Amino acid sequence: MYIFKNYNNSAIAFTPIGHSRAGMNSRPGPTPGPLSDLLYVISLHLPCSLFLSFFFCFIFYTITIFRMANNNIPHLSLCVTATDFEKVAKNVLAEKSWVYASSSAATGLSMTTNLDDWSLINFRPRILRSVDSMDTRRNILGHTSQFPFFVSAMGTLGSSHPGAEPLLVRGATRKGMHTMISTASTKPLEEIMDAHLDEQRLLGNQSPSNLSFQLYVPVDRTRAKSLVQRVKAAGYQSLWVTVDTSTLGKRTADRYLQAQENLDAGVVQNARDIHGENDFAPAFGGRQVPGSVDGGLTWEDLDWISSEWGGPLVLKGIQSVEDVKLAVQHGVQGILLSNHGGRQIHSAPSSLMTLLEIRTYYPEAFDKLQVFVDGGLRDGADVLKALCLGATAVGIGRPYYYALAAYGAEGVERCTDIIAEELEITMKMLGVSSLDQLRPDMVNTSRLANEMWRPVSGNSKL
Ligand SMILES: Cc1cc2nc3c(=O)[nH]c(=O)nc-3n(C[C@H](O)[C@H](O)[C@H](O)COP(=O)(O)O)c2cc1C
Repeated sequence: MYIFKNYNNSAIAFTPIGHSRAGMNSRPGPTPGPLSDLLYVISLHLPCSLFLSFFFCFIFYTITIFRMANNNIPHLSLCVTATDFEKVAKNVLAEKSWVYASSSAATGLSMTTNLDDWSLINFRPRILRSVDSMDTRRNILGHTSQFPFFVSAMGTLGSSHPGAEPLLVRGATRKGMHTMISTASTKPLEEIMDAHLDEQRLLGNQSPSNLSFQLYVPVDRTRAKSLVQRVKAAGYQSLWVTVDTSTLGKRTADRYLQAQENLDAGVVQNARDIHGENDFAPAFGGRQVPGSVDGGLTWEDLDWISSEWGGPLVLKGIQSVEDVKLAVQHGVQGILLSNHGGRQIHSAPSSLMTLLEIRTYYPEAFDKLQVFVDGGLRDGADVLKALCLGATAVGIGRPYYYALAAYGAEGVERCTDIIAEELEITMKMLGVSSLDQLRPDMVNTSRLANEMWRPVSGNSKL
């Protein structure tokens, strides 16, 4: 048995009990034994340890609060809507990252239409229906998700937070939410899947969350096929082919920033000479990397993509009812109605408008494939509006980019909690307790329908 030898010495050594203890003679009280020695040591160290713990805690919290105040980062609990993260992220992000995430095509019309159109629809609530229990789960392409919403693909998440995509999926997995991973991700797709699986293990494999992969088809078919094989080998559940990017949209804010940077650097650069590091991605800064996205892609290409992949296939970026008909004919399992968050074609229809178009002119589509929507959804009520009109689930983009930027994985969790709570509150007051009770007549779409496309009589191929 051993006790401490040098009580007042920080370099602690051990010595057998019974050996002479120099420096102990002045100690008052009974003859020292092992227990009293121990108590003596504790009595000497305890006040000092307590003081040091309080001191370091004080320093730590002071620094944290100072940093938060300095960066204008409010406490996470002060974010009560999904749009709150945007304000915080603006203060945290480097200008280039902020411009990348917030920018949209041309004057921004496609993005503002996305945002505004959700307010053109009202609910038609029903009363006195039992809504004590709530079920917000949804089956997405054969897999249960805790919620009828998921994170839409966003490239280069390393510009949002150093933890990038792995951190995003950790937050999403903890909440049981699905995530779509972009071809243009900062981290390799295998590393992102590892983070998801690791988080699953930590949760005892209880989370229904899974990962899908968004595909930009590169010009080189050999590279395209090997990418699809990598995605398959890594265990992604579904493949979402982006079809709205025959070329990269003109992102005005990115262009201004890039032009200024070039001028500052004394470089006069030809737009077409700019290359990024990740040649699977549109360049960070709004210029397309040559070869990264195939403008020659056609409906016929779906055959080789489908046979190479062999799992559920979704087309991301459909914007008209005619293309929905073609998608059904080509036998894909899902379509995502999207204008890429307003980043691609200028003056696009909002994704909600496209959804209404399908509900009006081709409602059979909802029985033939799963219909998803993304663009401008910022509230659980928006999610419900889409579901009433027949969407299986919806994607959410920027709020998660901003939440990750400001608060890391905790931000992702909080953003999910906010939208999930709004969803439940609205369901209760709408008079439904599960998502399969939602019906088109629970929303009034008259205002939006006024602006909806109408076939020119006699000329329609519908
Ligand atoms: C920063 C950012 C990066 C994006 N990167 C991709 C991408 O790599 N591939 C893709 O198909 N869509 C991409 N999108 C579009 C999103 O998948 C989604 O369609 C859009 O963000 C939904 O609109 P919301 O941001 O208003 O929710 C990106 C959007 C943003 C904001």
